[in-house]
Amino acid sequence: MGGRVQGKVALVTGGASGLGAESARRLAREGAKVMLTDLAAEAGQGVTDEILAEGGVAAFLSQDVVDEARWAEVVAETVARFGRLDVLVNSAGVGSGGQPILEATFEGWRRIVGINLDGTFLGVRHAAPVMAAQGGGSIINLSSILGKVGLPGAAAYCASKGGVALLTKAVALELAPAGVRVNSVHPGFIETPMVINVMRESENENEMRDMIISRHAMGRLGVPREIADAIVFLASDESSFMTGSELVVDGGYTAA
Ligand SMILES: NC(=O)c1ccc[n+]([C@@H]2O[C@H](COP(=O)([O-])OP(=O)(O)OC[C@H]3O[C@@H](n4cnc5c(N)ncnc54)[C@H](O)[C@@H]3O)[C@@H](O)[C@H]2O)c1
Repeated sequence: MGGRVQGKVALVTGGASGLGAESARRLAREGAKVMLTDLAAEAGQGVTDEILAEGGVAAFLSQDVVDEARWAEVVAETVARFGRLDVLVNSAGVGSGGQPILEATFEGWRRIVGINLDGTFLGVRHAAPVMAAQGGGSIINLSSILGKVGLPGAAAYCASKGGVALLTKAVALELAPAGVRVNSVHPGFIETPMVINVMRESENENEMRDMIISRHAMGRLGVPREIADAIVFLASDESSFMTGSELVVDGGYTAA
């Protein structure tokens, strides 16, 4: 019996951790061949080895998503290894701890916007031509609820994720005639190292956790599987009439 993305080839950035790692695992379980990339080579190879041990098809490449020359190599190596490229998941990203605008630095701004927004642009720019030449594909960009609503102390993060949402819509319009779908995913706060570290670094971890939880109508944080399932849906042909969409998976955070 075929999986939901049987025979597709997926490239997942940020595959060493959190949402990228879980998406790579689930895409592989649903029949995709998965190329994982990340700055963190040891952890990325570890996730890849887990997938291989489960009988999946996967490989790992180290990549800094702000390095354009490396993007060209990663896309070419993925096609050389697995024959095509059907799915790109742009999950590599960095969060921002409390950085009030009155204390923010240009350097800090540039780092966050660079990785989260420039990195996503480069992914789209390098994957889309291959997908268009093949007759189609699905690009999934990790935005956030913080690409829809603001959070004090997170100006650069919010700006980067709002940028990802509108980048997604603009290129979705351009690429629709070529059969390439482009959608953004907007998670609430999900239990991954990114969020766990923000809570740990706060003055009072329990208070911070309770405050974050209280903003979700469902009264809990999300778990990576809940985002990975949305990503598998967007990667699969089940979402064949979706492009330029914002898929919000946030336990009710933005319903208020
Ligand atoms: N966890 C959440 O609550 C949440 C919510 C909304 C959106 N997101 C977004 O989802 C994506 C994944 O987040 P996560 O929670 O899995 O975080 P994470 O920190 O667990 O994983 C992010 C991965 O990206 C990699 N990375 C960072 N900079 C990189 C670079 N320049 N090049 C290549 N890889 C790089 C890291 O090494 C890490 O493995 C991010 O874009 C994040 O902004 C997360």
